[in-house]
Amino acid sequence: MRAYQILPGDGIEGLQCVDFPERELGIGEVRVRVHAVSLNYRDLMVANGNYLVTVDDPIIPCSDGAGEVLAVGPGVSRVQVGDRVAASFFPYWQDGPTGPDKIRHSLGGDIDGMLAEEVVLPEDALVKIPPGMSFVDASTMPCAGVTAWNAIFESSNGIRPGDTVLLLGTGGVSVLGLQLAIAAGLKTIITSSSDEKLQRARELGAHQTINYRSFPEWQEEVLRLTHGAGAHVVLEVGGQGTVNRSVASSAMGGSVAIIGGVSGFGGEVNPATLLAGAKRIVGIFVGSRTMLEKVMRFADTSGLQPVVDRVFTFDQAREAYRHMESGSHFGKVVIAVA
Ligand SMILES: NC(=O)c1ccc[n+]([C@@H]2O[C@H](COP(=O)([O-])OP(=O)(O)OC[C@H]3O[C@@H](n4cnc5c(N)ncnc54)[C@H](OP(=O)(O)O)[C@@H]3O)[C@@H](O)[C@H]2O)c1
Repeated sequence: MRAYQILPGDGIEGLQCVDFPERELGIGEVRVRVHAVSLNYRDLMVANGNYLVTVDDPIIPCSDGAGEVLAVGPGVSRVQVGDRVAASFFPYWQDGPTGPDKIRHSLGGDIDGMLAEEVVLPEDALVKIPPGMSFVDASTMPCAGVTAWNAIFESSNGIRPGDTVLLLGTGGVSVLGLQLAIAAGLKTIITSSSDEKLQRARELGAHQTINYRSFPEWQEEVLRLTHGAGAHVVLEVGGQGTVNRSVASSAMGGSVAIIGGVSGFGGEVNPATLLAGAKRIVGIFVGSRTMLEKVMRFADTSGLQPVVDRVFTFDQAREAYRHMESGSHFGKVVIAVA
């Protein structure tokens, strides 16, 4: 069985394809043949050694993968050989609100992840993929899909049909968030540095678009486009360079979901900017296995097909990482393993 390994901090060039012997399955463990792995910005952070948690030994990278069950260990009852499954980002967060114990490990962060031909996972980490959903599409759901779902539907202040969702940039989380919001009957505004990407967003059904390079004060555009009301939910992936504009873009009673920091972390938010509008800032850290089940069920019933920018082969893993790093992608970057 081949798998990639990386020592966090070694960079993309540090990705090494290694042969591993098959190990025996313990109680509650499941062997999965991986078919597809999707990349997240976080996988670049792990490679570059600037992710939230780190480890001293090489790990198999990537949180997001989908495949089929090859074998089950003693006591396994949730899945059977042949089932099509995806793995949850936090293998120990099954349901309910977050907690230190639930997020103590994450796939491809501090324990082995999915960029392998075969993986061994606890049965509790697995979710069955809806019959109509491909492995490639399912592989986009555990981090990007769950994060967007959590921000819009679980942690917002009661979003309703017709409310406005603001998405920053056209990366994996934002484009999946756009698709989820459109499918749920919400009004969407999305920003990008590229007019061509904004055109693609409109073709997907985005209601309004803003080029944040042409409009550096893009929060004013959001307010203009919403007739002063602002967005009920903002998916804040920009960090230091965008968070105050996101707060200014949000509606009274709305929520700014703090997801990422592609422009860096740090800076300050003036509490007064939240006060009069009763605005909420809420931290999002991916989500639970139940959220993964919900987002996959919603994608299945609504016919949502995640936008996959490009699919690389297993041998092209480094190229896939470099493509992600270039920022030229729109939506998700996937590695087809089998
Ligand atoms: N908290 C969580 O649970 C969680 C989960 C997933 C991701 N994240 C974080 O969320 C962020 C996005 O992740 P991802 O996987 O979606 O990344 P991604 O696919 O690499 O997307 C990044 C996109 O951000 C946009 N961007 C860059 N600079 C920007 C700026 N100054 N203002 C607005 N947009 C900007 C770019 O879009 P354009 O090319 O269109 O300009 C770029 O394509 C990362 O920081 C990641 O670590 C956090």
